[in-house]
Amino acid sequence: MLGNFSYYNGTKLYFGEDSLAFLNDELPKYQGTVQLIYGGGSVKRNGVYDAVVGILKANGRTFVEDGGVMPNPTADKLREGVKIARENGVGLLLAMGGGSCCDYAKAVSVSVHCDDDPWDKYFERFEEPECEIVPVGCVLTMAGTGSEMNAGSVITNHEKKRKVGHVFGPEVMPKFSILNPKFTMSLPKRQMVAGIYDIFNHICEQYFSGEDDSTSDYLAEGLMKSVIHSSLAALENPEDYQARSNIMWCATWALNTLIACGKTTDWMVHMLGQAVGGYTDATHGMTLAAVSLPYYRYIMPYRLHRFRRFAVEVWNVDPSGKSDEEVAAEGLLAMEKWMKRLGLAMNISELGASAGMIDGIADATFILDGGYKVLTREEIVRILVASL
Ligand code: NZQ
Ligand code: ZN
Repeated sequence: MLGNFSYYNGTKLYFGEDSLAFLNDELPKYQGTVQLIYGGGSVKRNGVYDAVVGILKANGRTFVEDGGVMPNPTADKLREGVKIARENGVGLLLAMGGGSCCDYAKAVSVSVHCDDDPWDKYFERFEEPECEIVPVGCVLTMAGTGSEMNAGSVITNHEKKRKVGHVFGPEVMPKFSILNPKFTMSLPKRQMVAGIYDIFNHICEQYFSGEDDSTSDYLAEGLMKSVIHSSLAALENPEDYQARSNIMWCATWALNTLIACGKTTDWMVHMLGQAVGGYTDATHGMTLAAVSLPYYRYIMPYRLHRFRRFAVEVWNVDPSGKSDEEVAAEGLLAMEKWMKRLGLAMNISELGASAGMIDGIADATFILDGGYKVLTREEIVRILVASL
């Protein structure tokens, strides 16, 4: 393991078919009104809302509704949520939904007791919260982002055409998260596969960085194999509990800081995907899928050894008699076949991006330096054009 790091994760997880019952144990730990955060209505259709409200009522808890959190939550909605929390003396933000609801809850949590505009403070100036943070709990209904056990929060500003993530400190992580794989069964196939690719890419973003072959890399390969295996089983039969539960567990471990230990981490696929998202409001996992192969094919020569290892260890490419370049290219081809089999978006045009947007998307792409190649703006444009 190279580098110095500390590791702490303060989120308590409850996993499995019976996990919602543990909400009864968690509620007494938090005072005040509960702000019940949810999206566009899936929780009302699949019974999660009724089950959670039943537990709140059984515990005699006052709650205030905060529904309508959209996929890719906006700065305007965030300001609305802060207002609800302030007006109701909220002591617990309880998110029911996917990453959007969890991310939104975290953004509200750091803004309730802070006078500044939350977008300006956290998503433009990247300041850290100095104020009291309202605790967050999550009842997860979509596997993908890992937001249930991390301190990330991604907010979209439509006026500015910007989608920006802020990774806060561990104090912003949810205090608890309830992971019942059955709650993910009602996801439409498109959302299920978008979540699966999001998981896979989170692992790639950490795996494709760093000098050595570390414990984090071996953990990453194990997670990737589990995602690939379970994704194909879930594609065949979305009701396959074993597959869906493994996908949910992989999502959490793919982005809860464990496999980033000792790694510089890349995150350029996410920067490109988020910039595309700022222009198109497309589904997060699909934006990542659409830019991934042009990006990885472009950076492959800068760390051939790692792409060769990816091919052999993750995609079972037989290296005998082949050059490193051939093995690495075969690995990416196998990944492409898998992505197509899942039915992922393979270019940004199908997500609503056009050639005329490329300059704006390139301007909105943050350039990071943790991967194998620090891209220039011109290289970003080249990758985006190849993704059209
Ligand atoms: O709004 P509802 O009606 O609930 O429908 C949602 C939404 O339309 C639906 N859905 C969720 N669970 C369902 C369901 N439909 C039926 N049955 C269920 N059980 O799925 C749609 C997408 O939900 P959303 O929460 O937006 O998806 P996801 O979990 O992919 O979250 C995406 C957001 O998270 C951010 C993304 O950028 C995006 O804004 N990310 C957060 C990260 C983090 N915190 O670390 C990292 C990620 O890389 C990502 O950037
Ligand atoms: Zn992601």
